[in-house]
Amino acid sequence: MINVLFVCLGNICRSPIAEGVFKELVKEKQLDNIIQCDSAGTAAYHVGSLADKRMRKVALANGITLTHQSRQLSYADFDSYNYIVAMDQSNHDNIRKESFRANGSYLPEHQLYLYRMFDPQRGTSITVPDPYYEENSAFEEVYQIVSRSGIAFLNFLIEKHNLTVKTSESPGNLF
Ligand code: 4NP
Repeated sequence: MINVLFVCLGNICRSPIAEGVFKELVKEKQLDNIIQCDSAGTAAYHVGSLADKRMRKVALANGITLTHQSRQLSYADFDSYNYIVAMDQSNHDNIRKESFRANGSYLPEHQLYLYRMFDPQRGTSITVPDPYYEENSAFEEVYQIVSRSGIAFLNFLIEKHNLTVKTSESPGNLF
């Protein structure tokens, strides 16, 4: 199994939509028996809550129902997840610090990522911007960013782990 954990601050806006979109992409490529994902927040403010209503609305408009309930990142996650993917630099730095506290060493580069590094349209920004105090359009932008980043990240995993992707052109069962 390849285990992926998306992390933001509150785990009610960016990482739940990153998780929801990525799950769909994985399912489309029929890789859900190989790749699993979840999300968490570095902060505990919203533990137990569903994703923010504004984020759920954008998700639903794109055919995705978000059912994740916010949870805080835990030390156990450093052992359970092969890929820990931060939404912004501050999340990334906090995860690094916590991993040092937990294990006395930082997570290796191949385990900790900044999601937007995968966005082909990132320009000079390597951040998935925090939409919490912004207008509705900020939530739509987050959706677009995590969709583009998700496609590229999935391709990265497929290549790195040499995964076989079944396409609709593959010969199926004749009977
Ligand atoms: P998220 O957004 O990190 O993308 O879930 C936020 C959610 C809540 C808060 C900040 C950011 N907050 O300050 O409560």
